[in-house]
Amino acid sequence: MRLCLIGAVLVFVPLGGQPAGFNYDEAKVPQYTLPDPLVMADGTAVTTAAMWKKQRRPEILELFAENVYGHTPKAKIRLRTEVLEIDKTAHGGTATRKQVRVWFGPAADAPYMDLLMYFPNGVKGKVPAFLGLNFGGNHTVQPDAEIRVTKSWVSNKAADFKASEKDRGAGQSRWPVDAVLKRGYAVVTAYYGDIDPDFDDGFKNGVQPLFYRAGQTKPEANEWGSLGAWAWGLSRAMDMLEKEKEIDASKVVLHGHSRLGKAALWAGAQDERFAIVISNDSGEGGAALARRKFGETTARINTSFPHWFDGNFKKYNEKEDSLPVDQHMLLALIAPRPLYVNSAVEDAWADPKGEFLGALGADPVYRLLGTPGLLVKEQPAVEKPTIDGTIGYHIRQGKHDVTGYDWEQWMNFADRHFHRAGK
Ligand code: GCU
Repeated sequence: MRLCLIGAVLVFVPLGGQPAGFNYDEAKVPQYTLPDPLVMADGTAVTTAAMWKKQRRPEILELFAENVYGHTPKAKIRLRTEVLEIDKTAHGGTATRKQVRVWFGPAADAPYMDLLMYFPNGVKGKVPAFLGLNFGGNHTVQPDAEIRVTKSWVSNKAADFKASEKDRGAGQSRWPVDAVLKRGYAVVTAYYGDIDPDFDDGFKNGVQPLFYRAGQTKPEANEWGSLGAWAWGLSRAMDMLEKEKEIDASKVVLHGHSRLGKAALWAGAQDERFAIVISNDSGEGGAALARRKFGETTARINTSFPHWFDGNFKKYNEKEDSLPVDQHMLLALIAPRPLYVNSAVEDAWADPKGEFLGALGADPVYRLLGTPGLLVKEQPAVEKPTIDGTIGYHIRQGKHDVTGYDWEQWMNFADRHFHRAGK
């Protein structure tokens, strides 16, 4: 424990920077029983791939929509696009950079997201792509002077905070674009705040109002929050990639870090067009099992971020055991598509072991569907990735972050599953 002076407030922060007052002791993880992904709510055992597909998968999807992330509106919004820039000589001629503005709807003042894409030059045919949202605005992903600075709100600290030039390239350690292009993948990203600014404003901004019924002013208790909106935005990015002639839309790898890892998993669960889904340090509400009560808890996430999940999820504060699902079932919704989960040693808040156990809990579904699933039963040692199964996993040294090491493993996993020769 050390004492920190933050503003004028004294707070206790345990060593390692994890929030104090939560369980970080494996011995204090309560006894728990996970719901069985292969038993229907009425007790019927799921014994065939067809039963999973036609009955249990839709049932679990509905449980997550109702109780956790909220239902995503079914109405389709017409996307309006404008190409902002194409530079075929980016990054010393090795890449083509393309920026496209995507308006959600026909209105002149409709909300929009800017898609930033990099394609490797000199590659024959369509290329697979890595798609993920970013935290700071597209201009933080690379130092390129041409990347548009987002006009949307940034940072969850102040509602009026605007992005600026000074952040250009600030997030590039998380986006090793040149290394990914060299391996023959395109890189595609959008700023999550373009889709729904990440603060609790009662859902006045972002995409939710586009779907309100006459007189509705906020989502119902079983309708989406911000995570649902970010996931929806990822599907709209996928709509665009299906039209991009350089991209092989059957080989889009969806990834996300932390809250954006939660959003990526929810997007991948709902939208089966994503070929591979990667969760980086997604923790509570992502890959980590809620019932372990290790690190972040349901009550804490619902209090700190009341806008992320749906209203119904608040019923499970301090009552994780009464949830009809746990996060291994979210991961199972990705099956039989390859899934990769990764953790970091110093990221106790996200419960690395709980993330691994989430992946392990999804394994029976992968096996029922005829894939090898996860090839290990115990959490692998630090920096000993398991990538050969349909579920991959690694834990690396260091903190809550995205690193070049993480990307290397993701690309190895994607090469393996896309039957590419590799580096
Ligand atoms: C907070 C939150 C986590 C989340 C993380 C992030 O730490 O408690 O659930 O994953 O922010 O998105 O960076």
